[in-house]
This record gives sequence, structure tokens and C-alpha cells, in this order.
Amino acid sequence: MNPGASLTGIRGFLIDAPEWGKLRGRSDGAIILDEGRIAEVGDYDTLAKKPRPAPIRWLHSPRVAIFPGLIDIHAHVPQYPAVARGTSDLLPWLRTHIFPLEKEFTGPKGRRESAAFFPELARHGTTTAMLYAAVYEDSADAAFQAAAQSGLRIIMGKMMMDVGSYGNLQPTKIASISIHETERLCKQWHGANGGLIEYAVSPRFAVTCSEKLMRGAAEVAIKYGAYVQTHLAENREEIEKVKNQFTWARDYTDVYEKCGLLGPKTVLGHCIHLGPRELEALASTGSAIAHCPTANLFLRSGILPLEKVRAAGIRVGLGSDVAAGPELNIWQVMRSAIESQKARGFYETDALVPTPAMALHLATQGAAEALGKGATIGSFEIGKEADLTVMNFGALLPYRQTSKSTVNLTAEDILSLCIYRGGPHAVLETFVRGQSVHRAIEPELF
Ligand code: GUN
Ligand code: FE
Repeated sequence: MNPGASLTGIRGFLIDAPEWGKLRGRSDGAIILDEGRIAEVGDYDTLAKKPRPAPIRWLHSPRVAIFPGLIDIHAHVPQYPAVARGTSDLLPWLRTHIFPLEKEFTGPKGRRESAAFFPELARHGTTTAMLYAAVYEDSADAAFQAAAQSGLRIIMGKMMMDVGSYGNLQPTKIASISIHETERLCKQWHGANGGLIEYAVSPRFAVTCSEKLMRGAAEVAIKYGAYVQTHLAENREEIEKVKNQFTWARDYTDVYEKCGLLGPKTVLGHCIHLGPRELEALASTGSAIAHCPTANLFLRSGILPLEKVRAAGIRVGLGSDVAAGPELNIWQVMRSAIESQKARGFYETDALVPTPAMALHLATQGAAEALGKGATIGSFEIGKEADLTVMNFGALLPYRQTSKSTVNLTAEDILSLCIYRGGPHAVLETFVRGQSVHRAIEPELF
């Protein structure tokens, strides 16, 4: 830093989950930020008393909780208006509620909605997201511009598909056009905004992609060192279709494997119904899973066998999968990750029911690792970039609270309140790389 320049300090109850199953809490703690990084972590009293060349600019108070920024590794930008629609399973839901909406996501409408989406993420306390834009280059470009404007950490790509999706709207040469547009967007946006923006080559799923499209997609990803994202084994009917479409493949996962789409920068949505060979293929290629429990319940797709995925050593993060998931609210995705495994535990004796600390890990450090960013974000380590979510946890207690009612709460109590009752109504401020990207208007602090 410049000697004598004023540093920013954020005061609050610090809570993070740096390892699976481990919760760290520090009541009346503080984080000192320096040029977007975590420079010091400790007790507020100690850090406030330390002699410094210039006074600290202090934000917040012991009545707030500070978490590592929440990470959503799977959601769809154009689908947000379709949340909570319908009662059907995946494929009819896509045909009825999603494809007609995504088809319109171009021109002024696409630009307008793209601009509105990113402040919504920040308002929900999400600091990093991996997203699918629509198929159109214009609205994908507008989404990247809006993402850069928002200051959030965003990995995103234009949706790619060329088979049986939007019917005759698709030109016959759609695969080449889609690959060409993907490459253009990737070249322009991968690494933009000081590295906060990155590109994810995004073939939708094998049902709507030709082999030519998927192979071309993989080539672009390799050429630019970009991410890859797609959907895998979400629904039984989908799996059956893939089996009939790709008769040369050993299984669904093999389709992506043979097309060159698996690897350490690949994030696969869902992965509920995988066989042992497929789990092994994900593990050996270093591919990661986006676990989307709210979406999996909404579309009646199933429940991820979390214990199998973890035993295979596959990295996992959480995704809202809006609009299959009804909210961008990652606290509610954590809740669902816990509650869905409890439900599975009623009939599967070895179901791994995550503790709240494990759920927080899946939404922060675990998700960061799934994105290959475990050394950059996800926990309160000195030197990491300061992506933070500040929660007004008093607002989550029943009845009107006084500041006295919150003093005896432990880190476990506060985390549980956030998971079971949290959401944008309790998000006070969101920081990415030490910059405020959302601040609640006149919050009522208890
Ligand atoms: N599989 C292919 N496309 C989609 C989508 O948009 N949402 C979900 N949940 N699954 C998909
Ligand atoms: Fe999805």
C-alpha cells in the first residue's frame, strides 16, 4: 500500500469454513483490507489498538456476521423471470417454460435483463458466479458488460446448442456459427476486468448438442485456457435420450469425455445418476460438480449421492440453477443441501447429511476449489482476495430483538440462522476484492 494511506477495516463476528466439517468463528473480530486483499485477521480490539501510520476507516459493528463471499457455480441469466414456474420434470419444463423465454433473450430485452441480473446476485450476497448466458452473441456480450460493471467475479459463457431445441429458428450451420461466436466472446472477455471476468465454454447438454459442436467447444476451451460447463445426468429421461443419441458412448459421461470436454476447468451441473465408472472418470479428469439441490427437488430429478461423490474425491460446489432452482439465494441452497440428504437418509442408510459447517464449506471454500480458486477466495486467509458477505443476523431471529439478544450467540447459532432463515433481507453489504458491490439501503440493525 502507499505509506500513510488509510486502510479499511471491517468489524463483525467472523465465520468461515476453511476445511470440510470445520467451522471457525471469532466474535467481535475484524478483517483489515489492503488493495483488495485480506491483510490482517484478528480481534477487533487488538487490531484497532495497533499503532499505524494512518487511522483505519472502520465499517460495520459486532452486531453483524462476516462470511466469505457466497459462491454460486451454476445459474442461467436469461431464465430468472421463469423461477417457480410449472410442475413438470426437466425435459417438458425446458420445452414449456425455458426455451420460449431464452429464444426471446436478444435485442433491447436481452440487454435490459442482463443489466438487472448482476445487482441481484450481489443483493443476495453472492460474490462469484458461474453462469450460462443465452445463445445470442448480443445478449451474451451485454451480460459480460453488465458483469464487468457490477464488479462481481463472474465466469460465464454463451449457451451452445444445435440439436432439437429452438426448432426451425436455428440455421443449418448453427454448430460452426456457435463455435465462432463462442471464440469471439471468449477472446474478448476471458480475463477481462482485471481477471474478475472469465469465460466458460457452455454446450448446454448432450441432448441438444451435436458431436461436432461439442468437439469444437472443447477446442476453444483448450486454446484459450477457458472453463467448460455443461449438464450431466440430471434426469432419467435425459439419460435415456443421450444413450439413444450417442450409441458409440459407454455411458453419458463418456460422450463428454470422448469430445474432450472433461478436465480440471470443467464444471458439470447435477451429476445425480452416475455409475461408478462415470464417477471415476470425473475424478481422474479432475472435473468438478455443481450440486443444485433446490433445482433437483423442484424438477423432481433426484438427490445427489453426496457421500459417493466425496468418496471419489470429486470437487463439489453449490449452484442455485435458477430458474430450475427458485432463488438466487445460496443460503437456501445450503439449507436444501442439508435437508435433501436428510430425506435421502430415510431410505439410504449411508447418506451423508452435511452439517451447517459442511454446507458453508460447499458454498465458499469448497466452491472456490471446484473453480480452481481455492488459494484466491473462499476463506479468511491472509493474502486472499477480500470477497465478503456481511449479514445482519439479528434480523433473522424470531421477534424483535435488542442488541442484548444477539450477544450470546455462537458461530454455530449464527450460521444456522443464516442457513435456515437467511436471504437478501439480511444481507447488509457484499464486497468483491475489497470493493463494495452492494450495500443495503438503511438497514435496521438490532
Ligand atoms: N439441462 C439442460 N439445460 C438445462 C437447464 O436450462 N436447466 C436445467 N436445470 N437443466 C438443464
Ligand atoms: Fe442448469
